[in-house]
Amino acid sequence: MYSFEAFMPTKIVFGKGKIEELPEHVDGLGKKALVVTGRSSTKKSGLLDRVVELLKKVGIESIVFDKVIPNPILETVNEGAELAKKERIDLVLGVGGGSPIDSAKAISITACSGGSYWDYTRVGGAKKPKCALPIVAIPTTHGTGTEADPFMVVTNRKTKEKLGQGFGELSFPRVSIVDPEVMVTLPPNQTAYTSMDAFYHSLEAFINVNAYPYSDVLALDSMKRVVSNLRIAYENGNDIEARTELAWASTEAGITETLTGVVANHALEHGLSGFNEKIIHGLGLCALGPAFLEYIHEHAYKRIAIIGREVFGVIEYDDKRAAQLAIKKLWEFQELFKCNVPVRELGIPKSDIENMSEVVYEMFKELANVTPGKPSVEDFIKIYEMAW
Ligand SMILES: [Fe+2]
Repeated sequence: MYSFEAFMPTKIVFGKGKIEELPEHVDGLGKKALVVTGRSSTKKSGLLDRVVELLKKVGIESIVFDKVIPNPILETVNEGAELAKKERIDLVLGVGGGSPIDSAKAISITACSGGSYWDYTRVGGAKKPKCALPIVAIPTTHGTGTEADPFMVVTNRKTKEKLGQGFGELSFPRVSIVDPEVMVTLPPNQTAYTSMDAFYHSLEAFINVNAYPYSDVLALDSMKRVVSNLRIAYENGNDIEARTELAWASTEAGITETLTGVVANHALEHGLSGFNEKIIHGLGLCALGPAFLEYIHEHAYKRIAIIGREVFGVIEYDDKRAAQLAIKKLWEFQELFKCNVPVRELGIPKSDIENMSEVVYEMFKELANVTPGKPSVEDFIKIYEMAW
């Protein structure tokens, strides 16, 4: 039995060449934009200049904030918010991968509501933000799904907390322009890591104990699109059809995150990349994923069996066995993109496992609670050890 409430207010403008329609979608949102981006890729590709030119067409002046690093940190968010206040910014654009877009969301909340971003997080004071500036997302990767959800992930280096949080209606992008053409420059390994991030958003939403049909249909569809198209885009980044399929798979997965949400596998990964910022989120998910599924198998085999049959074409009538085959297929799929890395090779000492498990469990209790079998801190330790 299921009952649900679904809310997804973002206008999604999807398709090849849609970036050109940016002016008409931002017209009326203000006169001065903060364009939040990373340090180099949007400059090299020419996208940043293009966005600034497109904004000019409807009389919007741009201030570029290009200090965002992968796995964005609190200091950068607060610096961006200060700049936004000083420049009297009306709207915030995030251009790039998940990091610039998540930073744009956090800057928009902090610039409008004041103080430090951490004051509003559930571990840093849980203050309720008063308001947010309108957010516009232009993703250049197909993984995070942040263009279709209210969440942002920000790391506090002092406490080693890598926290994902949303602020309901305030932090959904007003508009997201999802144009697969701006994603073709993504190199093969990034193509794989970001696609696997999308895959795990959908997989986790599908096994979430609160899953329901609206979210299920998107989750299964998104996993199928990743499985059918990742190899093509990995071998030929310019294949626009494969890029389009992966871009939609990512946005669909973002919607499932909004509707249902991820489970403990994401919590465990935030532990890895919170303790070592160099760890790439998508790769961390792959390093943990098969072990995680193996660990929760007895509580989730019915749902994993469906993934096996529908996504990987497993023909097996016994659910427990079909679920085992699904995990094997997932491992084989990840192997194609060299994503099966043992956790010990990711640069975290084994002695950190206990502390890391306690930190992430405390931060992501809600994700543990919606995971089949409700894993505890001890279970987190065991999963890390299995994936070691
Ligand atoms: Fe993710």
